[in-house]
Amino acid sequence: MPTDPSDVAQKNQIVFFDTTLRDGEQSPGCTMHHAEKLRFAHQLATLGVDIIEAGFPIASAGDFGSVHAIASEVHGPRIAALARAKRIDIESAARAVAPAQRNRIHTFLSSSDIQLEFQMNLSRAQALDLAGESVRLARSFVEDVEFSPMDATRTDPEFLKQMVLVAVQAGATTINIPDTVGFITPSEYAAIFRMLKALPGAENVIFSTHCHDDLGLATANTLAGIEGGARQVEVAVNGIGERAGNAALEEVAAALLVRKDVFPYTSNIVHTQLYPTSTLLAEIVNRPVSPNKAVVGKNAFAHESGIHQHGVLSNPLTYEIMTPASVGVTTNTIVLGKHSGRRALEHRLTELGQSPTRAELDILYTRFTELADRKKVIYDEDILNLLKEEPIPAKST
Ligand code: KIV
Ligand code: ZN
Repeated sequence: MPTDPSDVAQKNQIVFFDTTLRDGEQSPGCTMHHAEKLRFAHQLATLGVDIIEAGFPIASAGDFGSVHAIASEVHGPRIAALARAKRIDIESAARAVAPAQRNRIHTFLSSSDIQLEFQMNLSRAQALDLAGESVRLARSFVEDVEFSPMDATRTDPEFLKQMVLVAVQAGATTINIPDTVGFITPSEYAAIFRMLKALPGAENVIFSTHCHDDLGLATANTLAGIEGGARQVEVAVNGIGERAGNAALEEVAAALLVRKDVFPYTSNIVHTQLYPTSTLLAEIVNRPVSPNKAVVGKNAFAHESGIHQHGVLSNPLTYEIMTPASVGVTTNTIVLGKHSGRRALEHRLTELGQSPTRAELDILYTRFTELADRKKVIYDEDILNLLKEEPIPAKST
């Protein structure tokens, strides 16, 4: 059974299509070995993604082997493989995903004039024929076929409509609208989906976003795509992918969770697995996540300034729009530094088993601020050393 549009509509669901192992792996320096891909695919299943794009089987024997192994061993998500609009690619993708309980072939063809002329050397008419033939061929192997008009967002809208129509009539079950070069803006992207959803036969397909981050708009565009009617999002963990990367899975998932008032949809994502999944990927590709990365960065829930710390200690909602625990973050969120106040120091001392009197705390706080002026990171050992520095005057009460 293909991913069923009426089922998705009935559940008011956003389908998560993860492309970390395909587009993500195309990010320079992010190549993964067979065992690493398999390990990560199992984690994606635990995270609850609906579809794993496991790779591009025609690209290499290694890629074929990984897709085939994931299709054989990872249960739960549908397993997809990428294929150009070429017989040899589609046949290879079909063989690679054959062992999966539920599979998909994702075939793509450029649709913008610039790519058709300079990369594909195809006329528009030839491209339409090829799109239809490829989808039909893919459908001869699997029931669930996704078609992507590559560079859709720089494509003449009338021609985009024609290509999408051809793909739908040939049996595509999902139509992906890639912002291949990260060029579109949110309102424009939403308008493209509204335009395409009005096409005859569109009620029988699921539309999908696929956004690159060249202008830093990938997450915003993905959300705008949903507003325009897309019900599948193509995303990558930690936002890895070609050039500036793809829309980050964790950002889209967190936005849908936190802003349910704007996006009243369900999904199968297990949000507490977002941080463990991000951490595992960072370890596998040996690329640490930037500290200020939304949702999963080391500082995403860190509060250093005294005013913020005071607020968070009284009620986390003063400066947190989601709890760290809700996305699987378990580390301490109150970071002691030169902007911290007395309240935060007292809080950490209590956590460390100390209970200074007010007078002792005054002395310790003076020592702490002197230290914080000299040192960028204050560790628990530093705090405990403050107690040892010189005798603290005897407790007055
Ligand atoms: O960005 C892109 O256009 C792609 C396609 C292969 C879907 O990754
Ligand atoms: Zn892409």
